[in-house]
Amino acid sequence: MDIQFSTENLHKVGEIIKRYPEGKQKGALLPILHLAQDEFGGWLDTPVMDYVATLLHIEPIEVYEVASFYSMYNLKPVGKFLFEVCQTGPCMLNGSDQIIDYIKQKLHIGVGETTTDGLFTLKTAECLGACGYAPMMQLGKTYREHLTKDKVDAIVEECRVKAN
Ligand code: FES
Repeated sequence: MDIQFSTENLHKVGEIIKRYPEGKQKGALLPILHLAQDEFGGWLDTPVMDYVATLLHIEPIEVYEVASFYSMYNLKPVGKFLFEVCQTGPCMLNGSDQIIDYIKQKLHIGVGETTTDGLFTLKTAECLGACGYAPMMQLGKTYREHLTKDKVDAIVEECRVKAN
């Protein structure tokens, strides 16, 4: 696979790396992995992580370790819309289990699975820092808060409309 950031993202990579002292480029890994995930299909395939390692002059294993540690990086393909439902204490006490069960039943998928049409993936997440809005989930770059079954219905519909 021929992997190369777009010119625009290569420029951003250069800018990010410049924020770190010589020899400490590894500090740029997290934001560059975000760029890579955004540009290369929403997940980090091994060749993509190897490419990032090359850019930062670090070993591929150093990238794999970081990418597999943080839940915000996807190590397998995901749907066009990724539902990351928080399941930590405050969200759980406010019904996140029921929300997760409802999404599973509505979309006919389990946690970690993608719908057959490739539109939706369901993941669970640890506290996303929006406990006051529990139960909540992350959808792309947005937070969806005070979730109810009706809100889930509306979000799924909104996504379906966007996909068309
Ligand atoms: Fe869900 Fe903190 S517990 S956002």
